[in-house]
Amino acid sequence: MESFEYRSGELFCEEVKVSELIKKFATPLYVYSKKSFIEKFNSLKIAFSAIDHLICYSIKSCSNLAILRILKDMGSGFDVVSGGELFRAEEIGSDMSRIVFAGVGKTEDEIEYGLEQEILMFNVESKQELERINKIAGTMGIKGSVAIRINPDVDPKTHKYITTGKSENKFGVDIKEGLNLYKYASTLKNIEIKGIQMHIGSQITDTFPYVNAIRKIKPLINDIKSAGIKLENIDIGGGLGINYKEEVTFDAKTFADAVLPELEGLGLKLIIEPGRFIAGNSGILLTRVQYVKKSPVKNFVIIDAGMNDLLRPSLYGAYHSIMPVIEKEEKEKTVCDIVGPVCESGDFFAKDREIEKLKQGDCLAVFSAGAYGFVMSSNYNSRPHPAEILIDGSSVHLIRKREEYVDLIRLEDVN
Ligand code: LLP
Repeated sequence: MESFEYRSGELFCEEVKVSELIKKFATPLYVYSKKSFIEKFNSLKIAFSAIDHLICYSIKSCSNLAILRILKDMGSGFDVVSGGELFRAEEIGSDMSRIVFAGVGKTEDEIEYGLEQEILMFNVESKQELERINKIAGTMGIKGSVAIRINPDVDPKTHKYITTGKSENKFGVDIKEGLNLYKYASTLKNIEIKGIQMHIGSQITDTFPYVNAIRKIKPLINDIKSAGIKLENIDIGGGLGINYKEEVTFDAKTFADAVLPELEGLGLKLIIEPGRFIAGNSGILLTRVQYVKKSPVKNFVIIDAGMNDLLRPSLYGAYHSIMPVIEKEEKEKTVCDIVGPVCESGDFFAKDREIEKLKQGDCLAVFSAGAYGFVMSSNYNSRPHPAEILIDGSSVHLIRKREEYVDLIRLEDVN
């Protein structure tokens, strides 16, 4: 059984009718399947079971505490990119020795927080950051554990906004500078070198860019070892793509089969940082049609979710499959733009989409919204954040309440 599937014309999440959720919690509404999170995580765990490895779920993709707790309970570590994400990990009682901390702009406070928590390693993105960690660790009388993020200059063949491992991107350290920086790091008194890291992009649908990147950093690993510097971990980042439409993607086994031979003989523990692969197809966004209107050249379906709720179509032109929650008997289709209520022409979910004829009050499911959905939502146009629901079999858990108007102004002060 799929986590989201139609049974007799009605969309279900696990054992729960999605239309019942809408009745109870209204729209817009994020709905996640626990089973799906578990299955995705397990598929990776099984695929890599032959070697010593650690899966660090990338919190940024879907960061609700209830979701993080499920993954923590399955043995997941976490990839964090801010003090706020580290706080989430701490809140659910994560094992801090399973946390990696990424990001090009770590502040002094964030570094201090990571050091205090004794995380597994900072994935360091510059010489200056290394020096900052060294200094702060020194004042705290401890050592900071690090990996250096190497930018291998490979093309992951994904959207330019989510390409991170090419030399024109702001991320990591140029591969040619890698050895010098490792040598420098080894001279810093308060730094302990733990590994090497890369993350080449997101929504990668082919395993070859990973293989290519590993092949590129292997000589560097050998040089680092020859310089007498010990490494324990190789962290190859996240980026594993999912199906939004009809992409040909890879599953966990195919990924492992491609990557594992490349790692043979290195003697390093493997870390991966998947986000979207686990969360993406584990969640949907539910919304209701408010109006259907025509311009001389377009049909518009105006829904009650906006770019503030799900930014991906506006920001990347991303495709999300959209279907009625209750299948239409009338199968006649029209072509329309499905748009939100926000005052921006960029507020759309689909352009020129062929879909069954819709009318006011119809409910729609926007699929593949589990990753980079709620987490990228905002209060733009003073629109409260939607609620989040987690389904576990036939149990329904409200894991984040819908915001109310008072929440919008809670931190403001007119005096
Ligand atoms: N590790 C690092 C260092 C990252 O920067 C990211 C994502 C991940 C892991 C997880 O990547 P994933 O496995 O989820 O692809 N908002 C964009 C995606 C941005 C990804 C940012 N970094 C989107 O909606 O497509």
